[in-house]
Amino acid sequence: MGGEILRVESIEVFYGEFQALFGVSFHVNEGEIVALLGSNGAGKTTTLRTISGLLVPRRGRIVWKGSDITHVPAYKRVEMGISHVPEGRGIFPKLTVYENLRVAAYTKRAKEKFQESLEMVYDLFPRLRERRNQLAGTLSGGEQQMLAIARALVQRPTLLMMDEPSLGLAPKLAKEVIMLSRRLRDEYGLTILLVEQNVKQSLKVADRAYVLETGRIVLEGTPEELEKNPKIREAYLGI
Ligand SMILES: Nc1ncnc2c1ncn2[C@@H]1O[C@H](COP(=O)(O)OP(=O)(O)O)[C@@H](O)[C@H]1O
Ligand SMILES: [Mg+2]
Repeated sequence: MGGEILRVESIEVFYGEFQALFGVSFHVNEGEIVALLGSNGAGKTTTLRTISGLLVPRRGRIVWKGSDITHVPAYKRVEMGISHVPEGRGIFPKLTVYENLRVAAYTKRAKEKFQESLEMVYDLFPRLRERRNQLAGTLSGGEQQMLAIARALVQRPTLLMMDEPSLGLAPKLAKEVIMLSRRLRDEYGLTILLVEQNVKQSLKVADRAYVLETGRIVLEGTPEELEKNPKIREAYLGI
């Protein structure tokens, strides 16, 4: 595992007058799988959108590989190696699988490597290869989530951020999508920031995890530490 590549420093993020994040701080090391956990409305999506550059914090900083990127536009962050699989997948239902991938690969590097990237994502998700000329809106929920992840992968990220990839999937598929984090890290060398409400499964794949509650990090640790925590057991694991 490498050194720190992402640092979120005391970010305070607002929607108009409504404050969603109250000084959230955490870091991700290169090659790690870090889970950001919490219930609905905790601020997980807001955190990812701030790292992506879709929201700008009122206070605090986002530091990427040692540089302050707090005010760098979103598309440049993609060029810098930060890709985001958005909540709700963000695919284009009326474009084919292939077209969805092609439009996602909009940076110079992604365009240059597109043929190679296509092979990579089609090998990773054979269903997408079979359905490459099918409209994305006609795919099953699980296939749409694979496509959403593939769209981020063709951008050739260093850090892949996934926002609730298991949402809306049947339990077995939900588990598989979360487990995919391991493959992406081990076989493709990615660093993963996984946002999930599915605490039980996420703790099985993560190296470290943070728990967000109403805009604040309330707990952090290794899965072993968190699984022993009485609060986590009661509130998130139902034990
Ligand atoms: N576009 C928005 N406008 C106003 N409030 C929002 C908006 N998006 C999210 N919020 C509020 O910010 C808080 C955090 O939301 P979010 O980051 O989506 O949480 P999570 O992803 O953990 O479910 C919630 O109280 C939510 O209602
Ligand atoms: Mg969310």
